[in-house]
Amino acid sequence: MLVREVCRALVPALGGPDGVLVDATCGLAGHLIALIEAGRPARAFAFDRDPDARALARQRLDAAGAGDVILVDAPFSSMAERLRDDGVARVSAILADLGVSSLQLDRGARGFSWRVDAPLDMRMDPTHGRSAAEILAAIDVGALTRILRELGEEPDAARIATAVVAARPTTTSALAEVVSNAMSAPQRRKIGLRIHPATRTFQALRLYVNDELGELDRLLADAPALLAPGGRLGIISFHSLEDRRVKQRFAALSRPPPVPAHVPMRADELPRAKFALPPEFAKGVTAAPDELADNPRARSARLRVLERIEA
Ligand SMILES: C[S@@+](CC[C@H](N)C(=O)[O-])C[C@H]1O[C@@H](n2cnc3c(N)ncnc32)[C@H](O)[C@@H]1O
Repeated sequence: MLVREVCRALVPALGGPDGVLVDATCGLAGHLIALIEAGRPARAFAFDRDPDARALARQRLDAAGAGDVILVDAPFSSMAERLRDDGVARVSAILADLGVSSLQLDRGARGFSWRVDAPLDMRMDPTHGRSAAEILAAIDVGALTRILRELGEEPDAARIATAVVAARPTTTSALAEVVSNAMSAPQRRKIGLRIHPATRTFQALRLYVNDELGELDRLLADAPALLAPGGRLGIISFHSLEDRRVKQRFAALSRPPPVPAHVPMRADELPRAKFALPPEFAKGVTAAPDELADNPRARSARLRVLERIEA
């Protein structure tokens, strides 16, 4: 998704023989291979916490002649530490394409989607943490209501949470049915055929199971400091909860630090921001009409870009 736009944003930052590229969310390596082919970085690192994604990415990278990419089996929140272990202090470009991959959604067995009946797992890394079913087996109505409200922006959060806790479903289809039956008639009319009644509940649980907003907050805290001067960080998000965080952090980093009150300063002495929003990406970019025609999932994707301008 947004492959052309990602290359337009990050390839200029890879210029030179020392370019270091980091893909925080390798997935099936679509963006990564396009960036390597267009930008020819000296070194590339790719993180993904899903073992199935890493295995497929490895095959694709080998087939594309990019077998020297270092695939890291870790969440991207550990990026700074893992790069430091590899002796990398500064990087030229970082991409994070947030959320789940088409592989995770389409392989029903992982329990991410209401479309295929499967055990309710939803973990990107099935070897760590608790599955959605394990969480639902123990959660109380108040806690689940907060999750559905905050992470799913679900107006019927309390009704749905009450029904889910009463049923404690363990499969995707059982959860989808409980949610559909619990949704109020006005909400049902409001969403119409636009989305499945369980879409927001599945999103909220997935974000919670994988601590996706916590991961994003750690990326936003650490990744800018890893950029070399001229380096760029590109983040693609899929919903407003993520995009708002990215937009606010990028805006804060690109504002100059406040001038101390009552300290006279000449214009050339004023503190300057270390980061900027490249003008052509200042408002974020969305998929072009030709991509939307091929891939309707791209309609909610937005790419934002931050550039380091000072050491
Ligand atoms: C939208 S997909 C990326 C697709 C990829 N850009 C491509 O071209 O195929 C997101 C991927 O990031 C991984 N992921 C999500 N959050 C992660 C995290 N915090 N740490 C590491 N990997 C993560 C998921 O497992 C998934 O494979």
